[in-house]
Amino acid sequence: MQRTPLIAANWKMNGSAALAQQLTVTLATLSLDTTTVVVCPPATLLTRFNTPGNFALGGQTLSHESSGAYTGEISAELLQEAGASYVIVGHSERRMLNFESDELIAAKLKQAVSSGLTPILCVGESLQQRQQEKTQQVIARQLDAVYASQPELLLKSVIAYEPIWAIGTGESATPQQAQATHAFIRQHLAQYDAQAAETVKLLYGGSVNADNCAALFQQADIDGALVGGASLKPAEFAQICLAVT
Ligand code: G3P
Repeated sequence: MQRTPLIAANWKMNGSAALAQQLTVTLATLSLDTTTVVVCPPATLLTRFNTPGNFALGGQTLSHESSGAYTGEISAELLQEAGASYVIVGHSERRMLNFESDELIAAKLKQAVSSGLTPILCVGESLQQRQQEKTQQVIARQLDAVYASQPELLLKSVIAYEPIWAIGTGESATPQQAQATHAFIRQHLAQYDAQAAETVKLLYGGSVNADNCAALFQQADIDGALVGGASLKPAEFAQICLAVT
């Protein structure tokens, strides 16, 4: 099954309008014919990119509601108006720091798809869960929470495997560890929609950098990356985008 690659940048609560300009200029020099690049800056910076460029924009989260009295939240429609066509859903930092439940994440993903945004659903286990050999159990639960009751959303999703122990630690999963989990995810998703499980893009995230990305991208079930820290360095992010083709 041929899947075209996707590289996404998650700036988290970092960056600036100046960096948005720098990254736009750097990416403009790249020929990205077969690779989709998505930049997810803080929402206030979405309009500070020069678009249309050769990359798409995404939000880092969204409300499961359409509009209303939800102070501090941002809707799918507002993200779209600011230029986003993707949105990250269920990042582990939001699951942990903002207490986002599986149920809320399922509702957010539904809201994203029904509004026309492509969700990048994040799943992944903690170090303790890995040491207890619960990786597959945790990821199955996270996937089931979203797709068991709404399997039609799989076709519209991108999924990112981000082991929590690899995020921001400089200690990426090995290509073999990542591939094993990606293969499990694809196999698990087949129960919902066998064809969508083959076509869904599976990104790896967790300390991806210019040095380790090529070996990750060689794995059969790794279709790209969700990049944190290294996406704040335009030259390095550009190298990662080029390595996947
Ligand atoms: O969403 C991307 C992320 O959590 C990985 O961050 O800094 O380890 O690349 P980092």
